[in-house]
Amino acid sequence: MSQGFVTVSFIGASIMFILALSGLSKPETSRRGNIYGVLGMLLALTAAILGLVSANYFILFGGIIIGGIVGLVLAKKVEMTQMPELVAILHSLVGLAAVLVGFANFLDHNPSFVGIDKTIHDIETYLGVLIGALTFSGSVIAFGKLSAKISGKPLLLPARHFLNLMLLLGAIFFGVLFVNQSAVGGGMVPLVCMTIISLAFGVHMVMAIGGADMPVVISMLNSYSGWAAAATGFMLNNDLLIVVGALVGSSGAILSYIMCRAMNRNFISVIAGGFGTESTAQPQGEDSEGEVIAITAAEVAELLREAKEVMIIPGYGMAVAHAQHTVYEITRKLREKNINVRFGIHPVAGRMPGHMNVLLAEAKVPYDIVFERDEINEDFPEVDVSMVIGANDIVNPAAKEVPDSPIAGMPVLECWKGRSTIVLKRSMATGYAGVANPLFYKDNSRMLFGDARESLDNVLKNLD
Ligand code: TAP
Repeated sequence: MSQGFVTVSFIGASIMFILALSGLSKPETSRRGNIYGVLGMLLALTAAILGLVSANYFILFGGIIIGGIVGLVLAKKVEMTQMPELVAILHSLVGLAAVLVGFANFLDHNPSFVGIDKTIHDIETYLGVLIGALTFSGSVIAFGKLSAKISGKPLLLPARHFLNLMLLLGAIFFGVLFVNQSAVGGGMVPLVCMTIISLAFGVHMVMAIGGADMPVVISMLNSYSGWAAAATGFMLNNDLLIVVGALVGSSGAILSYIMCRAMNRNFISVIAGGFGTESTAQPQGEDSEGEVIAITAAEVAELLREAKEVMIIPGYGMAVAHAQHTVYEITRKLREKNINVRFGIHPVAGRMPGHMNVLLAEAKVPYDIVFERDEINEDFPEVDVSMVIGANDIVNPAAKEVPDSPIAGMPVLECWKGRSTIVLKRSMATGYAGVANPLFYKDNSRMLFGDARESLDNVLKNLD
C-alpha cells in the first residue's frame, strides 16, 4: 500500500475518532459515536497492517486473534458495575505498550537521527516510557482498589509529598543522564532507573488516593494513557497515534475537571491524596438524632399515585439490583396517570461517568425526562415524591450542612427540600465515600428497606 494511501486512511480514521467523541457526548447520539469509533479503529488497523508492516505477519495475526478473543470474552462477561475496573486494567495495557515500544525503539538505534534530531527523539522516548510506566502501575493499583483486592483507604506515608518530590527530581536527573549517555551510544541504565522510579511513583500516587476520589483517578489515568500514546506516536513518527493520543489525553483531562467540579474537589488535592480517610459509622450533624421511619411498598405506591410531581434519583444500588427495567415500568404507569415523572442524575452517580444514563437508556426511559443535577436541583421544592433508588452519597445533605464532613461542599441532589423522600436500600450502610447520611433521619424521609429490584417489583404490583 502506498504511503499516500496510508496517510489518507489515517486522516479518515482521525476524523472518525473526532466524530466518535462528539457522538459520545450525548445519550441520543452515543450509539452512532460508538460505530464511528469502531469504523475508525478498523480503518486505522487495516491501513497500519497493510501499509506499515512488512514482516512477522504470523506474530501480528497471532496477537490480534489472542487479544481479540480475550477482549470479546471480557466484554461479554463483565458486569456494568465492574466497568470502571475493566477500564482501569485496559489503561494499564496502554501504559505497558508505551513502555515496551519505548524500550524497543531505544534498542533499535536508528542511524537517521543525528544531532538535535537525536536529542529530540531521545526525549520523546524518555517521556513515552515515563508516562507509560506511571500509567501502568497507577492503573494496576486503581484496578486493585476498585475491585476491592486492595483496601480503598488512602495510604499516607510520612513525608509523602517529599517522597513524590524526590521521585520527580530523580526522573529529571536520569532524564539528563539518559540524553547525554544516549548521544555516545549508552543510556540503558538511566532509562531503567527512571522506569523503576516511574513505576514506584504510579503505585505511590494511586495508593495515597482515597476511595471517594477514585472516579477522578480513573479519568486522570485515562488522560495519561492518551498522552503516553501521543508520546509513542512522536517516537514512531506516527501521526495517527499522536492525534488519537491527544484526543484521549485532552478528553480525559476535561472529564477529570468535570468530575472534580461535580464533587467539589480540587484536582491538585485529589492527586496529593489523603481524602476518604474517615469512615463515620454514625451520621454527623443535628439531623442524625432521631429514628428512621420505614415504609412498605404498598404505602409507597399510594404516595406515588397521589403525587403530581415525582423525581427519581438512581444510584449505584439500582445498577447492582438491575432494577432499571422495573423503574421504567413504574415510570410508564405513573405517566399514564398523568403524573409528571422526571429523573435527576448526578454526574458521579454509580461507578463510572454516564453510568445511570446508560442503564436508563437500556431500559428505554425517554431521554427527555432525564435531567442533569444542575438542571433540576432548583425544582425540588415543587416535587411531591422523590424516590432515591440505591443512591447514598449523591443525596447526602451532610455535603451542605456539615462543614467538617469529608464530602463537605460536594454538590448533591437536594431531594430533602421536596415534600417527601423515599429511600430504597437494604440497610443503613454508608455509600462509596463511607460517610453516614442524615437524609435518612429527616422528618419527610421514609426508608423502603430491601433489594431495590424486589422493592420496586412490589411497588409496581401495588400500583395496579
Ligand atoms: P453510593 O453512595 O455508593 O450508595 C449506593 C447505595 O446503594 C449504598 O448505600 C447501598 O446501601 C445501596 N445498594 C447497594 N446494593 C443495593 C441493592 N441491591 N438494592 C438496594 N440498594 C442497594 O452510590 P451513589 O449515591 O450512586 O454515589 C456514587 C458514589 O460512588 C460517589 O461517592 C462517587 O464519588 C463514587 N464513585 C463514582 C464513580 C463515577 S464516575 N460515577 C466512580 C467510582 C466511585 P445498602 O448496602 O444499605 O443497600
